[in-house]
Amino acid sequence: MVLNDCLAPIGRLGMAVVLLLAYPLFKVIYNLYFHPLANVPGPPSWSASRFPFVWALLKGTIVHDIEKLHRRYGPILRIAPDEVTFSKPEAWTDIFQIHPDHQQFLKDPIWWKRQPGQPDSLLSAINPESHARIRRLLTPAFTPRALRAQEPIVQRYVSLLIERLHERVSEAEDGKGVEIDIAPWFNYTTFDIFGDLGFGESFNCLQHSRYHPWIALLFNSVKAASFVAAARFYPLVEFLLMKCVPPSLKKMQMDHYQQIVDKVQRRLNWELERPDIMSHVINKNGEIGLPIGEINATFMILTTAGSETTATVLCGTLNYLVTYPDKLAILVEEVRKTFHSGDEITLEAVRNLPYLNAVISEGLRLCPPVPWMLPRRVPVGGDTVCGTWLPGGTPVSLQVYSLNRDPAYFHSASSFLPERWLSEASTDPNSPFFHDERRAVQPFSVGPRACMGQHIAWAEMRLVLTKLLWTFDFEAIEGKKLKWEELRTFLLVEKKPLEVRMKLRSISG
Ligand code: HEM
Repeated sequence: MVLNDCLAPIGRLGMAVVLLLAYPLFKVIYNLYFHPLANVPGPPSWSASRFPFVWALLKGTIVHDIEKLHRRYGPILRIAPDEVTFSKPEAWTDIFQIHPDHQQFLKDPIWWKRQPGQPDSLLSAINPESHARIRRLLTPAFTPRALRAQEPIVQRYVSLLIERLHERVSEAEDGKGVEIDIAPWFNYTTFDIFGDLGFGESFNCLQHSRYHPWIALLFNSVKAASFVAAARFYPLVEFLLMKCVPPSLKKMQMDHYQQIVDKVQRRLNWELERPDIMSHVINKNGEIGLPIGEINATFMILTTAGSETTATVLCGTLNYLVTYPDKLAILVEEVRKTFHSGDEITLEAVRNLPYLNAVISEGLRLCPPVPWMLPRRVPVGGDTVCGTWLPGGTPVSLQVYSLNRDPAYFHSASSFLPERWLSEASTDPNSPFFHDERRAVQPFSVGPRACMGQHIAWAEMRLVLTKLLWTFDFEAIEGKKLKWEELRTFLLVEKKPLEVRMKLRSISG
């Protein structure tokens, strides 16, 4: 009896230990064989547990790891016990567009969770009404008409970029040109443009030829956001992580935000009329159409969305151009034959240059700055994506990088061939690109949450490339070539130095 009493707690403890050890095993068996997604193709390790996904996210290799899995298991892929990703053109329509008689697929809160009391921003608002309310107010700032009024601002910074690079290149004495890491210069330009377009004050990166401290800090916080998202899959880890954040880091984060709040406030206090984005947010009586917290949060996130993305495409495109000198030569010829002086290079004049547009389209295909579309949730009651029925609540994403490089959809899919975007490619059945699925390339996304800044982005990319190639000759440096396929992703692409040899143009058009 006494022995029984002594053993009882051990028995209960033993039972608890056995259950604790058996639970993960049961879970793995359930996930692999009995889960509603058990029939969706995918590697057993990723289907059994969330861990391989989180590990790839932390390492920054998620986009490339999933690309390999897509090539092995096909375009519909289970990447976690409860999550499916797609690398098929139809996924753009099924997940991101609104369909009559179907509920909208909303952003997955795991990636967009706000701290309690924090205001919504345009990008983080999940509720369609809240999102539409913010988007409606900003829409007039992003029309082609608004862009025409914004052109002098964009031109000013592109000219300053050329001026600054001209100073560097002129330092070369031997006529061989200078070696320059041009990647930060693209960032300087796009952040300065957004600073001026958004708040009426540039970040002065081009002025000082270095990053504004706000931007330097931003790169780390995007990476940190990727780690925080990873932690959210394990609530205990998230809780501990949040508890461990040192007060100094929290203060740094608050100061970072406060700088944007101050910029917004300074701009709102201005009496001067200027055609920037903020001018569309203020009505004739000087009132703003949204709570100030939402304006601050939106401009905070817009600064990244509107600058880092465009700089990444410029970087990737120039990298491919120097790697494919024959393509670079065609573009140089187009630019130098079209323009006889730098002043002729206006937005209207660059809009219809066929090879320039083809080069940028190819750059967007191979170097999408948003290489995977963060998950949406299948609406309550379930729905079908790319012919596969999925239960309500399932997170579904789209692998932009994998899709854009899929040999099933593109001829010589991994090669930089701007010709696939010229009009002959879609009209001439003898073109090797005739069967390319060009509509699969949607770097700005589609539907109610598609990129608002695409006109501005195209304008910046066209002007920067044209003015650079009109002024300078570019060359790759042997042994220092950047391999785009090796870059890591932490929500956005982590850029590496792009070292090129530059000199003042040697031939005229
Ligand atoms: C090449 C450059 C760019 C690319 C490839 C790009 C791509 C994208 C993509 C894919 C999204 C959708 C993200 C999602 O729903 O998860 C997006 C959203 C957005 N982008 Fe861009 N973007 C670029 C430049 C810009 C610029 C220059 C601006 C503004 C100046 C901008 C403003 C926005 C805004 C406001 C949204 C949020 C739209 C919404 O949720 O309603 N983007 N962008």
